[in-house]
Amino acid sequence: MLTLGVNIDHVATLRQARQTVEPDPIAAAVLAELGGADGITVHLREDRRHIQERDVRLLRQTVRTHLNLEMAATQEMVAIALDIKPDYVTLVPEKRQEVTTEGGLDIVGNLDYLCRVVDQLQSAEIPVSLFIDAENSQLEASAKTQAKFIELHTGKYADAPNGTLQAKELELLKLGCEKALSLGLRVNAGHGLTYWNVYPVAGLPGMEELNIGHTIISRAVLVGMERAVREMKLAIRGQV
Ligand code: PXP
Repeated sequence: MLTLGVNIDHVATLRQARQTVEPDPIAAAVLAELGGADGITVHLREDRRHIQERDVRLLRQTVRTHLNLEMAATQEMVAIALDIKPDYVTLVPEKRQEVTTEGGLDIVGNLDYLCRVVDQLQSAEIPVSLFIDAENSQLEASAKTQAKFIELHTGKYADAPNGTLQAKELELLKLGCEKALSLGLRVNAGHGLTYWNVYPVAGLPGMEELNIGHTIISRAVLVGMERAVREMKLAIRGQV
């Protein structure tokens, strides 16, 4: 059955905006699991702009589903992953200036190095997922690394400006999914998925897990607003 990994990075973005202790992503993970999350995903970025190492260590102890650590394929990150041992690692490309992960990993151009990184992690029994665009060359190279999973980048599908182009991008994802499965890779997908565009991707045969963050955190802020204000009114009156 298709599962949902909830990416809680932007709970940490809100905390870091004030360099304070709230909202705590650990509490958000507990609530996400209560809501039915099948997994918790966090991206420990090199610049630590949202998730901190402390968060990943605590999540390792508190997450009851599974913990997916997204990270760049650097030796600093590999050392952290080998120490914390998430349930799986998703390798992503990372540029300091980007607002969010921009494209898929170039497996073809970095095959030898990525083979080594996948081996370092999987030898320690941490399965690896490679975040890639749905292109045959990248899929074939991914299979060569022996990684267990790929995560198909759904950003182009999500950003497609109209229904026709979106249908084309969906078709590419479908073909990518089929190709990955034929190569023995397990398939996840994510990036830019929302309440409005998720359903067709969820219907792709063989898809295992969707990793979704921004749209869920955005909705959580809005559906909680009324209650949060009501509670502050009570606090002002000394009633909480
Ligand atoms: N998957 C990967 C590999 C990502 O880098 C991200 C963004 O951190 C996501 C999924 C979630 O994307 P979004 O926040 O747009 O749902």
